[in-house]
Amino acid sequence: MAERLDPWGTLEVKDYDRLRRVFGIRPFQEVIPKLREAGFEPSLHMRRGILFGHRDFDKVVLEGLRSGGRVAVLTGFMPSGRFHFGHKLTADQLIYYQRTLGLKVFVAIADAEAFAVRRIPRREAVRIGVEEYIANLIALGLDPDETEFYFQTNRGAPYYRLIQLASGRVTAAEMEAIYGDLAPAKVVSALTQVADILHPQLEEYGGYTGVLVPVGVDQDPHLRLTRDIVDRLSGVVRLTRPASTYHKLIRGLDGGKMSSSRPDYTIFLTDPPEVARRKLMRALTGGRATAEEQRRLGGVPEACTVYDLYLYHLVPDDEELARIYRDCRSGALLCGECKRMAAERLLEFLEAHQSKLEEARETAWSLVEPPSF
Ligand code: TRP
Ligand code: SF4
Repeated sequence: MAERLDPWGTLEVKDYDRLRRVFGIRPFQEVIPKLREAGFEPSLHMRRGILFGHRDFDKVVLEGLRSGGRVAVLTGFMPSGRFHFGHKLTADQLIYYQRTLGLKVFVAIADAEAFAVRRIPRREAVRIGVEEYIANLIALGLDPDETEFYFQTNRGAPYYRLIQLASGRVTAAEMEAIYGDLAPAKVVSALTQVADILHPQLEEYGGYTGVLVPVGVDQDPHLRLTRDIVDRLSGVVRLTRPASTYHKLIRGLDGGKMSSSRPDYTIFLTDPPEVARRKLMRALTGGRATAEEQRRLGGVPEACTVYDLYLYHLVPDDEELARIYRDCRSGALLCGECKRMAAERLLEFLEAHQSKLEEARETAWSLVEPPSF
């Protein structure tokens, strides 16, 4: 049987290169020189290989910008829980594309999906969508003037027309091959995500000529489906295939999945600083059993969830990160001290972020039209 990725499951990936090859995803490194040639510095996540794969980034984004096309970036968040450092990874990318490449940003609040697949009560989904997702995105620095936020259940006729027309261009066997499940909730959620990805190209939503979709690699099934549907709707509506990028999924503090449903192992951007510190101090590291052993053998940053936090979020300076890496490997740095240093940076970030959040929460409600039920 063909290998599948489950966008609604709990994916843990050991070998990203293998995964990339199995699904025909290109290595992101190949486009970094082209990005530089076009005059753009790569982002921290690009430089560090956290953004490991892409489809058509060069064709849609770089070519699109070069030829004066209008390129947008779109992603979606399922309002099923609190905003955490995994979400921040996506947020940072949106902010980069907005500031550095000047792209217009679309953010889907996937409330239809949250209701159908995760059974999130409607009012809850709306509140979480606005006060957790939109508010945190703004507090992180996404410019609301250059961003369009919307709820999937409240987007307008041309968007829904895409869902309906797309449903006529895919078979049950294909859906089953991609998702392994034909529950109506999943079929409709998948086709709704197709409309999310494609609708900025419609006149009514700005007529963008290219759309880039940054996601975790678990979402690739939706992108493959979208690409097929674009081809099959030719002659019905003029669309081009989206570009997509894939990031590695940041691990939780026990090495398992980072997820709202695992709060002990997940740091939320709204965690009271002391709560966050306590979680961090208990995190799984790549350290040895005793201090003596660690001085002798050194630690293993690759296996360490604290190092992950440095790599993804807490240490923007590459040289400083390299120093931490070396000191860990050589045994000069021990986990206790290292965790205290991480906690200090984490708390500094959380305090600054949270001081912006209250105002962002108020602004957030004015930036989106909530569905009526
Ligand atoms: N399915 C995505 C998730 O579970 C959310 C989502 C909805 C999305 N629409 C999208 C992501 C469009 C990217 C593009 O997180
Ligand atoms: Fe992780 Fe730091 Fe310990 Fe190295 S020293 S294993 S980076 S906590």
